[in-house]
Amino acid sequence: MCGIFAYAGTENAVPLLIEGLRSVEYRGYDSAGISVIDGSGAIQTVKRGDHKSSLSNLAEAVSDRRVSGTVGIGHTRWATHGEVNHTNSHPHSSSNGLVSIAHNGIIENFLELKDELVDSGVEFRSDTDSEVLAHLVGRAVESGSSLRDAVVAAASRVKGNTAVVAVSANEPEIVVGLRVGNAGGIVVGKNDDSAVMASDTIALLPYTSEVIYLEPGEVVEIEQGKVRLFDLDGSPISREPIVTAQNFEAAQKGNYPHFMAKEIAEQPDAVQSAMRGRVDIASGTLSLPELSLEREHFGSIDRVILTGMGTSLHAAMFGASVIESLARIPSIAENSSELRYRNPVIGPSTLVVAVTQSGETADTLAAMEHARSAGAPQAVVLELEGSQATRIADFTLPIRAGQEIGVASTKTMIASMTTLLQLAVVLAEGRGVVGSVQVEKIVEAIAELPSLVATTLGLNGQVSKLATRLSEFEDLLYLGRGAQLPIALEGALKMKELAYIHAEGYPAGEMKHGVNALLGPEMATVVSAPKNDLYEKMLSNISEVKARGGEVAVIATEGDEIVGRVADHVILVPDCPELLQPFVTLVPMQILAYETALALGRDPDKPRNLAKTVTVE
Ligand code: AGP
Repeated sequence: MCGIFAYAGTENAVPLLIEGLRSVEYRGYDSAGISVIDGSGAIQTVKRGDHKSSLSNLAEAVSDRRVSGTVGIGHTRWATHGEVNHTNSHPHSSSNGLVSIAHNGIIENFLELKDELVDSGVEFRSDTDSEVLAHLVGRAVESGSSLRDAVVAAASRVKGNTAVVAVSANEPEIVVGLRVGNAGGIVVGKNDDSAVMASDTIALLPYTSEVIYLEPGEVVEIEQGKVRLFDLDGSPISREPIVTAQNFEAAQKGNYPHFMAKEIAEQPDAVQSAMRGRVDIASGTLSLPELSLEREHFGSIDRVILTGMGTSLHAAMFGASVIESLARIPSIAENSSELRYRNPVIGPSTLVVAVTQSGETADTLAAMEHARSAGAPQAVVLELEGSQATRIADFTLPIRAGQEIGVASTKTMIASMTTLLQLAVVLAEGRGVVGSVQVEKIVEAIAELPSLVATTLGLNGQVSKLATRLSEFEDLLYLGRGAQLPIALEGALKMKELAYIHAEGYPAGEMKHGVNALLGPEMATVVSAPKNDLYEKMLSNISEVKARGGEVAVIATEGDEIVGRVADHVILVPDCPELLQPFVTLVPMQILAYETALALGRDPDKPRNLAKTVTVE
């Protein structure tokens, strides 16, 4: 997803803008650019639209320091309107050269605005929607408007979620930032010599750990050592900065080859962290202090709708399975982009649980807004506190996995599952479905989770051998049943997003309803079949695949001496209570996709066409 970084201070902004963009490049991008106000007060802009090499090519292009200035903006673009090339990269300048802007979001009415501008004589250079903003702001500044007023006026013409930063030759000491709707956040910070703003907190950490999150409908001016916040009417807003817990060191790879490898390895800690302050092993109790629902409220909940996108949807599916199983409340998990548009029947007795590690996924935020307007009590399970989702939900359930830089979600999924498992127990106990004795037993089991997950990390050897074999296929089928279905779907998603292999996740029971037509030697099948009540059924599915010449890899429970007699490849995971099996089958699925990606020479941290946070629909 697009990244923004802006600087106003005493140093040459050019290298600082490049470094700021490097810290947000994990969000995914295909082009990059910067604009600075040079010593003569003119705006200098340099852009590169070369896909993944854009930022390094941009850094090279400005390394001769011919372009310099102490105020500037930078942008990494994830193309929505207009192909990937230098011209379509941001920042975009106004035709009068007075203004340059960088924009996140989609301008839904850009054709109408573009027509109006072209009719007034403006010549467009790019095919982007964002360029419209540059001309609207530039025209207002030329008419004498301040940059802040011009940005606010331009944003008021735009339909769609917007996050924009702008500089003006008429006010060379400031940068203006504005946020309307949910097009990704803008976070602001300052120190004595400078002020910065960015899409992500991580970019501010070299300057300050005291940050202010712009809320939708707010505009900010930064200049050396100063931050001024306003609402769209121009009234000043005073807001105390918060001290962010994120730290720059944690965001580095350390001795891992990729962020993804580091984050897979961090999963035992992520699980531990998600339990901290909630699971009390000594007393055998479990609580969620952040869920300040009155106990009598628990009884009034007659349905739980969980919602998310991508990996977070798979975590939500696990949540629905475990909540219905333990708390005996009808629970479903639904794709946010579907939930938000189907006019669902949601009311005060529906508990809505959003799952979103970034807290900025546009479709999930929209589904959350819908649930809030329907009066449903709402929780959000997330990593990035301070994100927009925390301002929509009634209760924030932090997963505390720590920054996840790799585009593919790994530790945030297992931490979300850990948090959802605890939510299920709290709901079950709050409704009197389970008593203290059962809770004690569950806590005893959950206490083993970090070491169980740590054990699965040792499967690399078995998994990388299988990965080499799977890398030879163009089509893969993933099968699971019950609580293993979300794990099969997640395994398929990881293989798609990392190895770029077509991989379909399917309920194993669906085999005979069409999938069997696909079976044969040209497609391999990955099956999640730990020892549980559905194991025998899974053995039958494995035999069905084998009977049609398909190659089968199975994730099974250690000590299973049967599955090896029917499957071609077996990955054995630790034996554990059925409630915890999804945690131990998830990790080999992640490692399998990671190792297959390496076998195919893919970059696991920056998969093509993907972004870490999808802030557009
Ligand atoms: C998963 O590996 C992808 N990064 C993607 O599917 C992601 O899970 C999805 O975009 C949801 O993101 P969120 O958790 O930040 O809402």
